[in-house]
Amino acid sequence: MEQYAIKGGNPLVGEVEIGGAKNAALPILAASVMTDETVYIENMPDVRDTNVLLKAMQNIGVMIKRRDRHSVALNASNVNNLVVEDENIKKIRASYYLIGALLGKYKRAQVALPGGCDIGCRAIDQHIKGFRALGADVRIEHGLIKTRADRLVGSHIYMDVVSVGATINVMMAATMAEGMTIIENAAKEPHVVDLANFLNSMGANIKGAGTDVIRIKGVKHLHGTEYAIIPDQIEAGTFMFAAAVTKGDVTVKNVIPKHLESITAKLLEIGCEVEEADDCIRVVASKPLVHTQVKTLPYPGFPTDMQPQITVALGMSRGTSIVTESIFENRFKYVDELTRMGASIKVEGNTAIIDGVEKYTGASISAPDLRAGAALVIAALAAEGYTLVDEIHYIERGYEDFHLKLQSLGAQIEMVESERDYSKFKLKTG
Ligand code: EPZ
Repeated sequence: MEQYAIKGGNPLVGEVEIGGAKNAALPILAASVMTDETVYIENMPDVRDTNVLLKAMQNIGVMIKRRDRHSVALNASNVNNLVVEDENIKKIRASYYLIGALLGKYKRAQVALPGGCDIGCRAIDQHIKGFRALGADVRIEHGLIKTRADRLVGSHIYMDVVSVGATINVMMAATMAEGMTIIENAAKEPHVVDLANFLNSMGANIKGAGTDVIRIKGVKHLHGTEYAIIPDQIEAGTFMFAAAVTKGDVTVKNVIPKHLESITAKLLEIGCEVEEADDCIRVVASKPLVHTQVKTLPYPGFPTDMQPQITVALGMSRGTSIVTESIFENRFKYVDELTRMGASIKVEGNTAIIDGVEKYTGASISAPDLRAGAALVIAALAAEGYTLVDEIHYIERGYEDFHLKLQSLGAQIEMVESERDYSKFKLKTG
């Protein structure tokens, strides 16, 4: 099984190119089934979750041609099956985007209940509420979400919680419903806006994405398009915090600085220097880091997907910090692993109370989920000595070439497959 072998202690220095956003790519790929014409997508991240979704789409008859590693052509004119239930699709969260997309176009779909990272209860009641409001019959039977409608008719839908997934799913179905749909209390994340822009480029009529009221006037047909996915806010943020934790100097390139404002603000608060240009941000950590408080919130608040990374940084910052997780109730599972590396963190409910330590020390640890896995890697890069990270398949769900990008910044990290590989790595770096 593949693991990361890491020798900590090198400040990360240099420039790193950020890829397309995984959480925008997933709904955009799913929405490509909504037209019979060919859709060309650029800046697609080559990560496990997008590849699982592409495979599932191929299995229902979507023709998929990779033009190069980051661009793909999709044609859904020959979709022959509206039941999506292959083994792998159950493991990713975004499988449920195929419900909104297929329901919108074909007025029916059956998709395996979604999986995804185990970070707490991940209800889908708001998705179901939205589909039902549009006139669909929705049932959960035999592990499948089954939806069907004679007609989809626009409706006024108030979301009880701010949900990225439900906003996206209902927006897709409503795009091909009759009349006007209004989604209130909608999620405002950049990937919600990116999907709306993508659908509009296919002929949809969506207004207000990026605010909490989205208005969708249904259309009968969507057409082909060419579209480039936005840069990944969370990949960028992860490298920005890697710079902070390793006392480095890193420029993240191909980013939209506006999407990173909450992350930049926290880096400034803990004592980093941050320089912004049009499409890049430089983070320099030349002074000792200091404590702060942070609460995760829907966009434009501090993202839950950056919570483990900031906790790792605060674990090495002077003073006592408090991190409150308000989106998912089980997103501190990695704290036990970080404690093995010397962190002093007490978790009480949805709050972590962190007493900053001078340094982390390397240990054998395991990635519990995608973002926590990446955060533990950056802790290891700052730690004294060697760390072996297990279960890195989680990290591969959402980070393309993570270890190679870190290597290019001077990190001592390698993917190893055996005890022997690890010993070789130690000899090489010892
Ligand atoms: C998306 O998950 C992302 N996943 C997550 O990223 C991200 O952490 C999350 O949004 C929040 O930003 C994808 O985009 C594939 P939600 P999603 O619906 O859509 C509750 C990563 O690391 N809720 O916004 O599943 C829910 O329980 C992943 O890339 C309901 O109660 O998140 C949670 O507390 C991890 N009912 C909150 O809303 C519902 O019907 C936010 O969930 C739906 C959600």
